Amino acid sequence: MLEEIRIYCLEAKDSSIKSNKDAEAFKKRFLSKSGIVNSLFLRFKKLSNDEKKAVGKDINLLKKICQDKIKFVKSISSSNLNSVLDLTRPTSNFTGSTHPITKISNQINEIFKSLGFYISSGPEIEDDWHNFEALNLPKNHPARDMQDTFFVKTQPDILLRTHTSSVQVRHMSESQPPIRTISPGRVFRNEAISSRAHCIFHQIEGLYIDENVSFIDMKNLLFVFAKKFFGNDVVLRFRPSYFPFTEPSAEMDVFLGTETLADYRLTKGTGWLEILGCGMVDPKVLSNCSIDQEKYSGYAFGMGIERIAMLKYGVKDLRLFFENDLSFLKQFN
Ligand code: PHE
Repeated sequence: MLEEIRIYCLEAKDSSIKSNKDAEAFKKRFLSKSGIVNSLFLRFKKLSNDEKKAVGKDINLLKKICQDKIKFVKSISSSNLNSVLDLTRPTSNFTGSTHPITKISNQINEIFKSLGFYISSGPEIEDDWHNFEALNLPKNHPARDMQDTFFVKTQPDILLRTHTSSVQVRHMSESQPPIRTISPGRVFRNEAISSRAHCIFHQIEGLYIDENVSFIDMKNLLFVFAKKFFGNDVVLRFRPSYFPFTEPSAEMDVFLGTETLADYRLTKGTGWLEILGCGMVDPKVLSNCSIDQEKYSGYAFGMGIERIAMLKYGVKDLRLFFENDLSFLKQFN
């Protein structure tokens, strides 16, 4: 009997009710006086006490499935019954597309791959060592404030990674030079959400470690990247900066000008927009990751993908990338 009830349950669940007529027929078959549920209850009465336990539970389940189905159908007006319940109906012609952030990320990855870099990845939930300590950011270091952190747990600190530099720490700790890798991924910072900042965003960070690597190698690479990505006419500049894990450090800016109000605002009136941070990996970071700092040197860089996507597509509000509004996304088909 149990098997029989199971089959009825499947039938009730799968029944397609597209009209009031279907609903009536369904009710008659399962829930009427002479219907299936009632006749099962009549047979139930004749069972032994042991059998009653299991069978009773299943008959009640079947009854509930049928009643829920009818309740649901009633909650929908008969006029739109067809459109709501026919789950097999084809959708409109919009078939979906790659999200603009994924598109930009893929384009950047392809450029670095063509320049000899391979992709590495790591966890989004990190420990303090990989996200901070190994990168020359001991506890209470003021530069930790630059990266407001979401903690998952404290003592020991487990957090959402604030940059994908943590992937590079893992990579360096597990392999020896030559290293030439990029780490794309999602990162998290406890920042107020605005048109220029979000608490979740995407980064691509790069790392190159070998013998005799110099600052000029890095500058060349980043200029080649920017020209491939933005076009040969792009105007760039390098500016000294500070990161705890690189020395010397720099930032690369793209010139947008101040002709439009949007560009004026975005560049805070300077015409220049920062697109990435970079520098020579601090020898202390190398030794933290068991790499011989006497023999090897290297550079690292990191960029925010949303910011680059905003630049490339002329999007003025970063929040649009997270809202999944189809009318926005369709533009990137
Ligand atoms: N990790 C830095 C950040 O998230 C970016 C960076 C990477 C800067 C590598 C320099 C070198 O802001």
